[in-house]
Amino acid sequence: MKALVLHTPNSLPILTDWPTPEPDPGEVLVKLKAAALNRRDYYITQGQYPGIQCPVVLGSDGAGEIDGRRVIINPGLEWGSSEAHQSAAFTVLGMPTDGCMAEYTCVPEEYIYDTPDHLDDIQAAALPLAGVTAYRALMVRGAAQAGDSVLITGIGGGVAMMALQMAVAHDCEVYVTSSSEEKRATALTYGAAGAYDYTSADWHRTLHRDSGGIDVVVDGAGGSAMQDIIKVCRPGARIAMYGGTAGKMDGISPQILFWRQLSLLGSTMGSPQDFKSMLDFVTERGIVPVVDSIYELEDFESAFAQMHTSTQCGKLVLRCSA
Ligand SMILES: NC(=O)c1ccc[n+]([C@@H]2O[C@H](COP(=O)([O-])OP(=O)(O)OC[C@H]3O[C@@H](n4cnc5c(N)ncnc54)[C@H](OP(=O)(O)O)[C@@H]3O)[C@@H](O)[C@H]2O)c1
Repeated sequence: MKALVLHTPNSLPILTDWPTPEPDPGEVLVKLKAAALNRRDYYITQGQYPGIQCPVVLGSDGAGEIDGRRVIINPGLEWGSSEAHQSAAFTVLGMPTDGCMAEYTCVPEEYIYDTPDHLDDIQAAALPLAGVTAYRALMVRGAAQAGDSVLITGIGGGVAMMALQMAVAHDCEVYVTSSSEEKRATALTYGAAGAYDYTSADWHRTLHRDSGGIDVVVDGAGGSAMQDIIKVCRPGARIAMYGGTAGKMDGISPQILFWRQLSLLGSTMGSPQDFKSMLDFVTERGIVPVVDSIYELEDFESAFAQMHTSTQCGKLVLRCSA
């Protein structure tokens, strides 16, 4: 089969003629139609991910079929028994185990779910990792309620865009940030009530004036902007953090945190229960993940190049087979 195999760390994968996997007991063979990129795949190719093992087929997100049944895969493997956090054995599909940027993959049957009927295979491939991460951060950790005002940072990211769509569908009033004017405009078309440039000095004051304060923050960046983000939080607000693209969070005022009784909450992917709840929510509300670009598997270098420049708004998807 054709597969994007990472042969050496700190390099791009190579399109390789690779043995078609054979399922172990309890596993199923999925014929993949599409696979989506995540920032994780990019970090792995840059040698910026812990415990890189080669050779390995990359790709956490996949959609395809098993004997004609349309399926998607939950990429969070061995979450464990606690809803509060993943187990020490937790791994993500697509390193160390072979992933979805290929014509076939094998996974334990428990990670297989029916593809929601309203999604085609490209849209379905865009859903799993970003969808479960956004759902847990917004709905489980952030405990967003209808009517809450929600801030989602860096709207160009795949998780951020999913969180926007979910929060709008949940009847929240949603505000977003982005460094890109075009992405801010796109967010407004997806139902954001306001969009702000986090690179401008006083964006948080304008947001505070417009929104009257924020109840839930979904943040994938961290960095020094967090000192301004907490200033727009209402008393009792929850800040769910799933990423740290902008690095360490200098300058946070402990006084604002404790006086306003704010909760700063880490959030990573989600449990099998979160994944099922996310699928039910997406199906009930008819949410269609935003796909920025579709590439043939052979054109993967262009997809990784776009990830490098972060010009996308939504997901980048590879077509794995016809
Ligand atoms: N914990 C988890 O389970 C989990 C799951 C998925 C992803 N992540 C992490 O979350 C982060 C985002 O990943 P992703 O795949 O959703 O998206 P992505 O495509 O990596 O998102 C990149 C976006 O980050 C935004 N950004 C960059 N610097 C920023 C800053 N200083 N402030 C606010 N936003 C900034 C940019 O938004 P604009 O272009 O709009 O400015 C850019 O489009 C990564 O660090 C990733 O590793 C964690």
